[in-house]
Amino acid sequence: MIEYRNNIFALHGDGFTCLLRVNRYGLLEQLHFGEPVSAEDADAFLLKQGLGWGTSVLLDDSDSESCPDTMALAWSGSGRGDYRQSPLETGNVTDFRYADHQILDGIVPMASPLPQAKGAAQSLVIRMTQPGAELYLHFSVFGGVLTRRTVLKNTGGSPITLHKIMSFLMDLPGDYKMTTFNGGWIAEMRKNTLPVRQSQVVNESVTGFSSHRHNPGFLLSELDATEDAGRVYGFNLIYSGNHYAAAQRSLQGLTRVMQGISPANFIALLQPGECFETPEAVMAFSDAGFGGLSSKMHRFVNECIVPKYWQYRPRPVLYNDWEGCMFDFDQQRLLGLAKDAKALGCELFVLDDGWFGNRNDDRAGLGDYAVNAKKLPHGLAGLAKKINDLGMEFGLWFEPESVNIDSDLYRAHPDWALTDEFEPLLSRHQLLLDLTKAEVRDYIVENVTATLDSANITYVKWDMNRHSIALGSKAHDYILGLYDVLRRIFEPRPHILLENCASGGNRFDLGVLCFGPQVWCSDDTDPIERLTIQENLSYLYPQSTFGAHVSASPHAQTLRTTPLCTRGNVSFFGCLGYELDLKHLLKLEKEEIIEQIAFYKQYRKVFQFGAFHRLKNGWQVSDGPIVLAGIFRKLLNAAPGYETLRVKGLEPNKRYCFCSHPQKLRIGQFGSLVKHVAPINLNPNGIVLRTADRLITLPDGYQECCVSGSALMAGIRLLPCFRGTGYDKNQRTLTDFGSELYIIEEESTCENA
Ligand code: GLA
Repeated sequence: MIEYRNNIFALHGDGFTCLLRVNRYGLLEQLHFGEPVSAEDADAFLLKQGLGWGTSVLLDDSDSESCPDTMALAWSGSGRGDYRQSPLETGNVTDFRYADHQILDGIVPMASPLPQAKGAAQSLVIRMTQPGAELYLHFSVFGGVLTRRTVLKNTGGSPITLHKIMSFLMDLPGDYKMTTFNGGWIAEMRKNTLPVRQSQVVNESVTGFSSHRHNPGFLLSELDATEDAGRVYGFNLIYSGNHYAAAQRSLQGLTRVMQGISPANFIALLQPGECFETPEAVMAFSDAGFGGLSSKMHRFVNECIVPKYWQYRPRPVLYNDWEGCMFDFDQQRLLGLAKDAKALGCELFVLDDGWFGNRNDDRAGLGDYAVNAKKLPHGLAGLAKKINDLGMEFGLWFEPESVNIDSDLYRAHPDWALTDEFEPLLSRHQLLLDLTKAEVRDYIVENVTATLDSANITYVKWDMNRHSIALGSKAHDYILGLYDVLRRIFEPRPHILLENCASGGNRFDLGVLCFGPQVWCSDDTDPIERLTIQENLSYLYPQSTFGAHVSASPHAQTLRTTPLCTRGNVSFFGCLGYELDLKHLLKLEKEEIIEQIAFYKQYRKVFQFGAFHRLKNGWQVSDGPIVLAGIFRKLLNAAPGYETLRVKGLEPNKRYCFCSHPQKLRIGQFGSLVKHVAPINLNPNGIVLRTADRLITLPDGYQECCVSGSALMAGIRLLPCFRGTGYDKNQRTLTDFGSELYIIEEESTCENA
């Protein structure tokens, strides 16, 4: 609900209120953003400026409280007494004052192709003016989340040069830490936390895309906030291009935070009568710690960001041929894999890179769409039909934004590549196409849609494998071009499951999630690396958006050897897939995968859409009476102590059935220890034990009990862990890179009760 009375705006959402005041100078003050409060309490939030701090520039020389530099504002100017970072830079003074406002149901649609959150209850649009320009500040309430964006209109007679325009600005009283998520290829989402002081903390991407270097989502938390308690703010941007966020604390104890398009090299010329609109920024507040904040963000993404068709719609278990085959395949090999994948329980077969043009490695073919007849003599339609006949859906990889110099497209239209006046700079041997050109966008739309309509294709992996070189307004126009293309292709085909990818998670953002509900988190599928990547994504994105695959061990990117159960257990907390050569799997590995997929399907809804919690030693998902908890071990310390599992969010007085998900141990895991228990003296590297390792498994410890919700939330004691004193079937062999899952179900619904 949005209220307005006596110059006070109160925007109420689930669990928050945003209070704004138009002060007597027409500036918009940020009185409060946080716990739900009443508009009647607005006075309690007024800052007491008193006689000021000295060296202040005043709006009214007779009013010591009229210093913009020490006000808590929701927007500010440049060169007019507020010397903190400005949200708007035009090379001239800016000083917008309140003119009028509008409160409306729903949301004002974007005028440009920028995507927008869906399902706003109400919006407030505040119009601020200065000679020759109007500024519209948009606020929308979506359940537990508030969004903001800005529109600048040139109402004067000469052009305005825009260098910087933020989607929002907000001054919050108090001290905060800023947490950002940074990284690079195969090392996405490393969490960094810095205290916000008088020097700015900046989170910015200038690669042309949201990037794996600096995910646009970030957090501001009070210094004592923990996972389950304390005040935390979360911010994100519905945008896939260069972005910028900054936080800075003033001497007076106000933390200024802002986010928008990166101003680095940004320039846009606004002719008289023209408008510029920023992407929509997302903000949420929780007084229940990081976990509380994540729940709000998850709900928002699941309900207001991803396409309607895919909201809470179960995602298929997929098999992707990339890590197994790379470019080396033909129809026969693919069908062999598809048959095996089907036998394991996979529901969707995805053909990755290499199906078109002369693409036998990554040096050629991007930009071309003719199916490679040598590899696929019956075309995509023939292959899709055969895969459909096996009882699986068929999906396809595209990289439509790129072009290789060795391609028919580049030979015909070298001018369609995005270049500058210097030598073209290649990355992965490719250039980007210039999506600011209408003919390039048309080419992509025509070719991708013709391919999609030529066969029964129900899934698309949309890849993009390089950074951009576009600067100025072109970088932004490229992203608008991308959104235009995605909208034209996928809006008429809502049933196609679109998974975005950019060398893994180089474009994991709310912008692309508006067009497709999943993103490929990382090319790094090592489960131990994924513990970091998926856990850190979970601060701002729900697990339904994570493409999470089981791949080979030792892992291609880390050479780390991990048990199959851990690869499965980590991938379960996302949209499960398999991406390895199935031909070389042992029989016992196949059996284990069959069990993994059957188990995942049984609890798919809980894994994909359940409420997600980060635990001290793992993760938890829950949906009504069912809770699934995973415990993950990175490195084992010898003689591990007692271990407790503490579950969250149960009904204290209800009784629950608690049990381990049974797991098997490979004999080889015990190395030379086996000879101590075998009746004969066996060579640990000899054929007998090597064969036994391929054929025999031992059960890992299994625990079950019936217990109250309150006991589970207090923390129940788990079976002892392997301590170097021998194997026991009543013990958990949770050694390096080990993991286990627990199933907790309300007694009334549990079959075993
Ligand atoms: C990128 C993707 C991979 C795969 C390859 C194909 O690296 O992230 O998953 O699709 O391209 O070339």
